[in-house]
Parts: sequence; C-alpha cells; structure tokens
Amino acid sequence: MENDLVIPQHIAIIMDGNGRWAAKRSLERCEGHRMGAEALKNLIESMKDLPGVKYMSFYAFSTENWKRSEEEVSALMHLLVEFLDANLALFMENDLKLLVTGRLEGMPEEPRIKLKEAVNKTKDNQGPCVIIALNYGGRSEIADAAKAIARKVAKGELDAESIDEKLFAEYLYNPQVPDPDLLIRTSGELRLSNFLLWEISYSEIYVTDTLWPDFDKNELMEAIKAFNKRSRRFGGR
Ligand code: IPE
Ligand code: IPE
Ligand code: MG
Repeated sequence: MENDLVIPQHIAIIMDGNGRWAAKRSLERCEGHRMGAEALKNLIESMKDLPGVKYMSFYAFSTENWKRSEEEVSALMHLLVEFLDANLALFMENDLKLLVTGRLEGMPEEPRIKLKEAVNKTKDNQGPCVIIALNYGGRSEIADAAKAIARKVAKGELDAESIDEKLFAEYLYNPQVPDPDLLIRTSGELRLSNFLLWEISYSEIYVTDTLWPDFDKNELMEAIKAFNKRSRRFGGR
C-alpha cells in the first residue's frame, strides 16, 4: 500500500448493483446478491491490509427495500443469516467488531437474533469496526432520534433549549461512530437513497460504475486515492 496516502478513518459504502450484475449474466437477482455477499466478505477480510481504516459502514438493506418481491426479500434475509454463520470466525480472527445500524426490531426474528449474537460475541474485539445497515433509513434514524429527545423533554429530563447539533447526534443509532470521511456508491447511481443523511454532511462522495459484486480491494484503493486528491474545507477557506 502507498505509504503517503491519507487513509479515511470511516468509509461508508452503498453496495448497489447486484441485480444488474446478475442480469448481465442472465442469472437470477439472488445470484447477484450471493456474489455481493462474497464481495463484502472479501472486503472485510482486506481491512487488515488498510491500517488507518477504523470504521466501515455497509448499506445492506434500506427501509425502502421491503418494496421488493417477497422472494427477493426472503432470499436477502436468508443470505444475511448465512453470511453471519459463515463469517463470525473471520471477525474473531481479525479482531473486528460488528455493529448494526437501522431499526433492528423491524427485522425478521432469525436474522435479528443472529445479529444480536454476532454483535455480542465481537463486542470486546479491539480492531476496526464493521457496521452493517439493515432496515436502515436516514430519515427513520433522524425521526427516531427526535422521538427519543421529545420523550425526555416531555418527562422533564431534558431542557428543549439545550437541543443543539451535538446533543441531537448523541441520539442517533451509533453515536460513538465518527461521521464517514468517504462515501462510496457502486453502480453509478448519483443519489443517496436515504443513507446516513445526518452523518454525511461533509463526507467526500465517490461514485464508481463498477457493480458491487465486482468491487474489491483494488477498487477501494482507487477510491482512497481519489479521496486524497480532494480538498476538504468544511465551509472554511
Ligand atoms: C444492491 O443491489 C443490494 C440491495 C439493495 C439489497 P440491487 O439489488 O439494488 O442491484 P440493482 O440496483 O438492481 O442492480
Ligand atoms: C440502495 O440501493 C440501498 C442499498 C444498497 C441497500 P437501492 O438499489 O435500494 O437504491 P435505489 O432504489 O436505486 O435508489
Ligand atoms: Mg439498486
């Protein structure tokens, strides 16, 4: 790895294009998702070669993805369970911590239980953190934070005047995780699709036409190189 590169400490990825990957090969969409899960595993494995990356967030299932066919949704949930069963050892070997973001209570029981177990088993690991976004919506996350804050105000535990950006952010799903430095979207779409709306205010955005199942460590290095050419000003000069 190039030594002089600044490595973003938090990289968030919108893993898009599994369906197109499958369509190009006249395969079922589910085959694309299967290869997508393989790409995810490989990328997580490569985190050990990217010292400096402390958090990687992966958008795996949005609050809008329930609109898909029952067949596709259940295949995705099944794949998730398989993924957790197959890769918990990888998390332990690499000292990786797993976190989940999203409305976990709205997930089907089997993946929900497996996720909780995996989060619990990896909670004392000291290495980088892998965050999987499931039943995640940026607007839901903001609405849920607003609800939690409103409840505290109603109970008299919080003064409405004390609500500012810093306090609000403490009510997001994973307040301990710093905002992403770099947001990557695969498959070329120039939109956020409701991912991390609060957290990406000042993230650098990198879009590649590569379909998610073809995205690998080399592609990630290309994104990190592009990130290094950006001048982050945060509104200053
Ligand atoms: C991303 O791939 C996976 C999920 C959204 C679950 P898609 O299934 O959206 O693939 P395309 O966009 O149809 O190619
Ligand atoms: C975004 O991809 C969600 C995930 C990658 C999980 P979509 O395929 O759902 O997004 P749209 O529909 O193209 O905006
Ligand atoms: Mg898509």
